[in-house]
Amino acid sequence: MLIVLVGPPGSGKGTQAKVLTDRFGIPHISTGDMLRAAKAAGTLDPQFRAIMDAGGLVPDEAMIQLIDRRMDEPDTKKGFLLDGFPRTVPQAEALGALLERKGHKLDAVVQLDVSRALLEERLIGRRTDKRTGQIYHLVYSPPPPGADLEHRADDRPEAVGKRLDAYEAMTAALLPFYQAKGLLRRVDGVGKPDEVTTRVLATLGA
Ligand code: AP5
Repeated sequence: MLIVLVGPPGSGKGTQAKVLTDRFGIPHISTGDMLRAAKAAGTLDPQFRAIMDAGGLVPDEAMIQLIDRRMDEPDTKKGFLLDGFPRTVPQAEALGALLERKGHKLDAVVQLDVSRALLEERLIGRRTDKRTGQIYHLVYSPPPPGADLEHRADDRPEAVGKRLDAYEAMTAALLPFYQAKGLLRRVDGVGKPDEVTTRVLATLGA
């Protein structure tokens, strides 16, 4: 199974990706997680770090190289789930070429649809457990006592607006791109996380 999850920041891509990758036994490839891991390890280009923290998009070429290398790892042989990549039409075109070259076929592009007001609330209330990577929300999915919580730099209100604008300006153009290829599956991302999972599985015919 090879799936791309598309949706604005806070639409629940990371939350759904964890459940779907467990269910299908495929790796979760999140470009945001890869960039944050490089940042934590001190290996991320300082220019990219500044772009991320401010809510902008890292240049296409760097992201395409990152995915190209990741797709060569052996765990991708039986498929994978892409979360946060592609984000622009040039990234989507490059992904198409990489998949063809590496002998993979994309099954579906799942778009999670959530209104902007709800996205802002979800992002500002998000906390992630530094040790486990588990995603929580202070109201909707409260963390357990003792969790070692992190508030992402780009979840501060001043960066959230910029990320949502970047999505609308750049990433929304992906939807017609994949619609024209007959791969786009639109899913209502509002409701409890397990309700959204049920909708995603139904659209995948799983
Ligand atoms: P990335 O990490 O990909 O962030 P994002 O796309 O902005 O998405 P998020 O992780 O913020 O949200 P999500 O949709 O995963 O939501 P989540 O499940 O956590 O990218 C970060 C940055 O890296 C980018 O801004 C960019 O700078 C750079 N980058 C990454 N990829 C790039 C690329 N390809 N090109 C260029 N730059 C790139 O949920 C959010 C909150 O809502 C949580 O608190 C959760 O608990 C809660 N929640 C989830 N589902 C529900 C629900 N159903 N009901 C109630 N609450 C819910």
